[in-house]
Amino acid sequence: MVELTKTGIDGLDEILNGGIVRNSTTLVSGNPGAGKSVLGLQYIYNGVEMFDEKGIYLSFEEDEEDLREAAESIGFENWQDHVDEGAIKIYDKQVLLRENDFSASLELLLDDLDGEEYQRLVLDSLTMFQLFFDNEREQRTYLLKFTDILSENNLTTLMTNEQGAIFPETEIGLENFLTDGNIFLLQTPTDSGVNRYVWVAKMRKQNIDTDIFPMEISQGGITVHENASAFSMMNEDDAPL
Ligand SMILES: Nc1ncnc2c1ncn2[C@@H]1O[C@H](COP(=O)(O)OP(=O)(O)O)[C@@H](O)[C@H]1O
Ligand SMILES: [Mg+2]
Repeated sequence: MVELTKTGIDGLDEILNGGIVRNSTTLVSGNPGAGKSVLGLQYIYNGVEMFDEKGIYLSFEEDEEDLREAAESIGFENWQDHVDEGAIKIYDKQVLLRENDFSASLELLLDDLDGEEYQRLVLDSLTMFQLFFDNEREQRTYLLKFTDILSENNLTTLMTNEQGAIFPETEIGLENFLTDGNIFLLQTPTDSGVNRYVWVAKMRKQNIDTDIFPMEISQGGITVHENASAFSMMNEDDAPL
């Protein structure tokens, strides 16, 4: 039987048919502001709070203080306590970018993994991670090696992937070789803000619901609503009559 890791996010575990396949790597893609980092923080935070699982958060984009502020602003008030106690281990951009090749950072990570019991890992973002490498082939080789190492260490991983206008050149079909799972976060503008959606496009070994579901980001984090929506990239007001 396939073992599952619950995200603890209301609605999401249900459409995942129980959770994310343990020891797998799932790509979380979306435009800037879609909620990828919030999802990553929540996955790690819930791991500690709800499931007694320790997490590692690798951020190429923020430092520890930024992460703390982001977490606390959304209501993950025990974030820093968990960091201080070691239940959440952070490698922030200052640590990761100190080394100029990723294998040096990876050595650091592997030393820490040795003998430590972490179950969850978030890499935010894969887009930045790829900037360590000179060409696509090298990126892929390293990514595969990295996901293998994570799996061997019994880590269930989310990697965020920036999509859209800002890094168009990175839309190179990562999905093709990062094959375990694919979650897309979508947002469409409305008069009063944005409508947000989640689409689980792929989850290996899992019979998932591939409809697109509306979600919300509010105090307490992401909530997914299980009534599948008639998804449209158009603003409702612009929809043809
Ligand atoms: N406390 C909050 N309440 C409501 N929305 C929030 C809150 N904190 C963050 N958000 C929303 O979450 C979005 C940020 O998502 P984020 O995960 O940083 O996006 P990205 O996909 O770029 O990583 C912001 O656009 C903001 O609207
Ligand atoms: Mg982000």
